[in-house]
Order: sequence, then C-alpha cells, then structure tokens
Amino acid sequence: MTTLHASLRPSSPDFGDNLAVYAGLREQHARLRETAIAGGGEKARERHLARGKLPARTRVNALLDPGTPFMEIGQLAGHRLYEDPTPSAGIVTGVGMVSGTPCMVMANDATVKGGTYYPATIKKQIRAQAIARENGLVCIYLVDSGGAYLPMQEDIFPDEHHFGRIFRNIAEMSALGIKQVAAVMGSCTAGGAYIPAMCDETVIVKDHGTIFLGGPQLVRAATGAIVDAETLGGADVHTRLSGVADHYAANDRHALDIVRAIVGRPARHAAVAPPRPVREPLYSPEELPGLIPANAKHPIPAREILARLMDGSELHPYRERYGTTLICGTGSIGGYPVGVLINDGVLFRESAQKAANFIELCCQSAIPLVFLHNISGFMVGVEYEQGGIAKDGAKMVNAVATARVPKFSVIVGGSYGAGNYAMCGRAFGPRLMAMWPNARTSVMGGEQAATVLALVREEQLAAKGETLGNAEAFKQPIRDHYAAHGTAFHAASRLWVDAVIDPADTRQWLTLGLALAHGAPAQDTRFGIFRM
Ligand code: COA
Repeated sequence: MTTLHASLRPSSPDFGDNLAVYAGLREQHARLRETAIAGGGEKARERHLARGKLPARTRVNALLDPGTPFMEIGQLAGHRLYEDPTPSAGIVTGVGMVSGTPCMVMANDATVKGGTYYPATIKKQIRAQAIARENGLVCIYLVDSGGAYLPMQEDIFPDEHHFGRIFRNIAEMSALGIKQVAAVMGSCTAGGAYIPAMCDETVIVKDHGTIFLGGPQLVRAATGAIVDAETLGGADVHTRLSGVADHYAANDRHALDIVRAIVGRPARHAAVAPPRPVREPLYSPEELPGLIPANAKHPIPAREILARLMDGSELHPYRERYGTTLICGTGSIGGYPVGVLINDGVLFRESAQKAANFIELCCQSAIPLVFLHNISGFMVGVEYEQGGIAKDGAKMVNAVATARVPKFSVIVGGSYGAGNYAMCGRAFGPRLMAMWPNARTSVMGGEQAATVLALVREEQLAAKGETLGNAEAFKQPIRDHYAAHGTAFHAASRLWVDAVIDPADTRQWLTLGLALAHGAPAQDTRFGIFRM
C-alpha cells in the first residue's frame, strides 16, 4: 500500500480562490434542491393537505426507519424541461431502510400536475427500478397519480422505455423474487392502475385511494354513466369486492405502517456490514472543494482527490510507472474493497491498455470498480492514430462494457467524448452515477466544437468560392450552447446522472452504493474479443 500525501492544503495560496468560486456553485445547487423539494407550489400543497393527505416527501420520511439516510435518485430531474414546472419530475425516488431492509421507494408527488407522468417521470421511475433490480432491493410504490400526462401521450405511451416498461419491470422483478409493494394513497388511474394491480401486495387508503382502468370522466365519455370515484374503485370496493388490493388502511400513516410490516416480515435483505474496518482518510473530504481549480481549464490533481477519498488515504497502485495519465489502484472506501480508475491527463494507448488489464484483474477478484472522470478525451494526432490508439481505446471500452462487477461513476471534472465511454459513462451501466457541481460533460468542449464546425463551414463555402467572414460571430453561439448544456445541473435535470453531489459527500455516497452492491448477488464476467 502507498500512503497518498496531499500537498494542496487549506494553507496553499490557490485553495482560498478555489473555494470562493466553488461557493457560487454550492449556492446554485442549494437553490435547485430547494425548488425540487418544494414540489408543485404552495396552492397545490395546501389543497393536498386540506384533503388530509401527507406530502410525498413526508410519506417517504414516515416510511423510513428513523435516523437512517435516504439516498435520493434524480432529485433535480425535470428542472426546466417543460413549459410547466415539474420539480423532481413529479416523483420522489431513492434508496432507504424500511424495517431494517434497504428498499427502493418511489412516491408520486400529486402536487405536481396531479402526479401525472411526463416523459421525465417515466424515465426516472424506470431508472429507480433498474437500480432496484441490480441491487435486489424491495420496491415500494407510494401511488398518487393521474396516470399519463395526456398532452404528451406519444412521448410516454408507445415506445420501448415508456409507461409499459414500468409494469413489465414489476412483473420481472417479482419473478426474480424481488418483492413489489404498493400503497395507493390517491388516484391510480388507467395504465397507472397496473402498478398496484401487479404488485405482490397492495395497501389502499380509505377515502383517498382509488384504482380504476377508466376514471369517472372516461366512464361518462364511453357509456354516459355518471359514477363517483369511490363507487368505481375506492378502498372499500377493492378490499371487499374486487380483490385488487389486499389491505385497507384508515389513513396515510396507517398505510405506511402496513407497508413496513410487509417489508419486515421475511427480513430477506439484511443490511451487510463492510468486510474491512472503516478508516477515515488522513485528509478531510471537506477539503475536496478547495481542489477544484478556479480556472475550469486547469486539471484537478488526481492524487489529491484520492488522498481525501480512500480509506486511510491508502492506494495499492497498479503499474504506477506506466500509462501514467490514468491512475489505477486498489484500496477501500467505507470498508468496501474497490478498484479505482482516475484520470490524471489525456488518455494514451498505454493508459487505455493498462486500464483494460486492471479491469480484468478486478473482475477476477470480484472487486467493484470506481471511475472518477476528469478527462478531456483520448490523445489525437497522426502519431497516435498510426499507433492504433482507437484499438487500445476499444480494449478499455470493451473491458468497461463487459465487466460484471459493480461499477460506479463520478464526474469530478470534465467528461468528454470517448473519454466518457472509457470511464464508464451512463451508457456503460454504472450502478450509480453522479457529478460534482463544477463538473461538465459533452461530446467535446465548446471551443473545440465551435472550431470544428467553423472549419467544416469554411470548407463548404470555399468550394463555392465564398468565405465565412466573421468566424467569431459564427463560433460564439456554439460556445454558449455547449456552456449552457454541459453543466452538472443540466445533466441531472435529464437524468444523465443520478445525482449532483457535493465533493465532500462523495465518500458517503460511494459507501452507500458499495454497501447495496455488496448485499446483491454477484455476477460472472465474460469478456468479448479484445482487438490486439
Ligand atoms: N393529463 C394531463 N394533465 C392532467 C391530467 C392528465 N391525465 N390529470 C390531471 N391533470 C392536470 C390538471 O389539468 C391540473 O392542471 P392545472 O394545475 O394546470 O389546472 C392538474 O393536473 C391538477 O389536476 P386537478 O384535477 O386540479 O387535481 P386534483 O387533485 O383535484 O385531481 C386527478 C387529480 C388526477 C384525480 C384528476 O385530475 C383526474 O382524474 N385526472 C384524469 C386522470 C385520467 O383520466 N388519466 C388517464 C391517464 S391514461
């Protein structure tokens, strides 16, 4: 083991400048979180409370074991995506402990457009289910939703990853032995009715819970009959006559108690203690924001980050003297063994080869992988292309894609182009993925994109004997677009990542993810053909 020594300390001259810049990002993050947590605004909230219903986040808190953390997934999803505000995409999702069992909780927020499903709502719930499936987590659905957001039906109904996938996932997880529990605490209309109907066990709340394939409006439109919601599909009907629900609850809190009892019955997924003793790093993770350079073009020193993340600030480096722009090594985080890959410069052939070998070794020993992206991309140029950098990059991407040990991704700086793929970007199935508030991601940097597009346009115009004229006027909107669309907050609103996390919370966030993965069944890795 090598002990990592931090040299950039709070006494260093750069540190204070960095923190001043980071303070602005932290404030922006806090504001966005507040908006997300507030839900659908004061009026909708008052109406909800006046009906005697608990707000979605209060329901989640009341469900969880007191004093245990809630790892929220997709909190910033839906931010500025549609004309109407859709805070948290109208659904609260996250992992928490219920009756001593880690569960994926999904709670519709009826104050956001009646809890209806926008495209982002569906994407978020499917993502939550994917996390549950990979980690074998009991799923709890706290349902209070008007079903499909009808004006956008074509973006939520017919396609592979649209509404139907949620019901398919329930059936498949149930078949895998992953318990599915629903509590109907409000509306549950049309397709949405399949959530409680397909769950293993369902609770419904008196006076508030309703389940029907066609609501009163649709019945009237289709048959002319006028019927009230309670008669059509209330709690009494479903627990006494139809058998669509199993348990009759007097109110929200009673329903949550019943869910806790259901989850607590078998104690199948007991929390798993870390296999190694937990040792804090020698340098405080609170210092991490001070490493983020005030000038975003300057890289973040990789070893400085590891010194504040790894247990005991210890790393057992792999090929320390070879392919040095990618640091690979083993150690532990929160008592869980990990293989870490962190960029310390551009990816070269050697670093990519080293990474592919390192990933093979970690898979052989069933060690989870943690990717810390701080990468502008692979090295370009004649020498590197002729040397076959595409072939070596492909080896790394191949290893990342096929490795079946749990993978976690955190973008701490930039994550651009093929560098994003090689470092286990979203498409490569990390169990969880986060960005620091300063982090950015796009296919390439804004400056590079502006230059490439300007050169392409110049060539087109030259063929016609024309010139571009003011290249700056052409480039600036492209730079601006990349600047606005490459931020961590933009990525989180679209669920490209599961969370934006404060650097100081990275250790805790990774530890929770590693703990979940540690309790789930291991999968065997089978690599494909590596191009030699
Ligand atoms: N699609 C689009 N918008 C919907 C909607 C839907 N399925 N259901 C409700 N909304 C909108 C309402 O127009 C309203 O918008 P506004 O705030 O801009 O006025 C908002 O969501 C809240 O609805 P509202 O009826 O005022 O709230 P409520 O709490 O009294 O009732 C429902 C909520 C969901 C019970 C009720 O709106 C309803 O029955 N909706 C129809 C559900 C349905 O038939 N869905 C079929 C899906 S396939």
